[in-house]
Amino acid sequence: MQYSHTAVMSEEVIHYLKPKSGGKFIDCTLGGGGHSSAILERISPTGELLSIDLDSTAITAAKEQTKKYKNKIFVQDSFKNIKKIAHVHKFNKINGILFDLGLSSGQLQDHSRGFSFLSQGNLDMRFGTSSSEGEEPILTAETILNSYSQQQLHEIFKKFGEEKLAQPISKKIIEFRKQHLISSPEELVEIITEVYKKYYKGKSKINPATKVFQALRIAVNDELESLAKALPDALNLLSKGGRIVVISYHSLEDKIVKEFFKLESRDCICDPQNPTCQCKHKKTLKIVTKKPIMATDQEVAENPRSRSAKLRVAERV
Ligand SMILES: C[S@@+](CC[C@H](N)C(=O)[O-])C[C@H]1O[C@@H](n2cnc3c(N)ncnc32)[C@H](O)[C@@H]1O
Repeated sequence: MQYSHTAVMSEEVIHYLKPKSGGKFIDCTLGGGGHSSAILERISPTGELLSIDLDSTAITAAKEQTKKYKNKIFVQDSFKNIKKIAHVHKFNKINGILFDLGLSSGQLQDHSRGFSFLSQGNLDMRFGTSSSEGEEPILTAETILNSYSQQQLHEIFKKFGEEKLAQPISKKIIEFRKQHLISSPEELVEIITEVYKKYYKGKSKINPATKVFQALRIAVNDELESLAKALPDALNLLSKGGRIVVISYHSLEDKIVKEFFKLESRDCICDPQNPTCQCKHKKTLKIVTKKPIMATDQEVAENPRSRSAKLRVAERV
């Protein structure tokens, strides 16, 4: 299966990350290597890039894409371990760090991985099928669907998918499971479509399965927790003036980034009711983009995936 992904807002990433010859950068989400290539082009030959991805397929594709550059290290791991990875590879005091969250087109299009409701393969949905940690138990979408309680499924669909029909969908899944286990994306789509038909007479603009698939993917990959853990560690790696650039694709991720930047750009984070500051918190970031940057109309027309992208930037003070 050919892996392909068009990097989103590449020009904007470079504009805000400001990679210069000799600079030291980390790309936390290597994917097909589009952003990494653009960074390497500007920091080479003396600069260094450390890129991370959970997916070995992405790393293979990115190696090919960046083969003319020697000054790079690719690591297959989760960016939630950024502190340890940076320490091992002596990437302290870096000039910039990039997160381009979520999944790539290459992963979505590989139907054997179950990310798409058009998939015919397994209900897997893991970004990485093996990790350097090797200790965490394997969790797939199929495991969640066939072993979680109705309440747990409801919470996942509601919290990570903002799915209005989380309750009837989770109920229907439990009913289905009494007959046999859910083993394919098609079966899951059928269950969701049936529930939607009962509650919505009109045609919905998006495929009714979209939100449930998103929710399962977020749960399987522990996406929100990983991001929340990685951001403070990423901040601590930046040298003064170094920048953190994050592209997110849904409101749950964007909220984490926005709130983290807001918190770190304040000197005191005590409850406003407190008459005096107890926290002694000192601001560590300056927010560069007051509002998120969106892709241009032209980019959206050329790459519809960029439609939901929101780019936020902050600078270490
Ligand atoms: C949107 S794609 C990145 C595309 C990339 N910027 C490019 O130019 O091709 C997101 C990538 O992040 C990876 N990813 C998602 N969560 C991750 C995590 N916690 N740790 C490491 N990689 C992760 C996915 O496997 C996927 O390859």
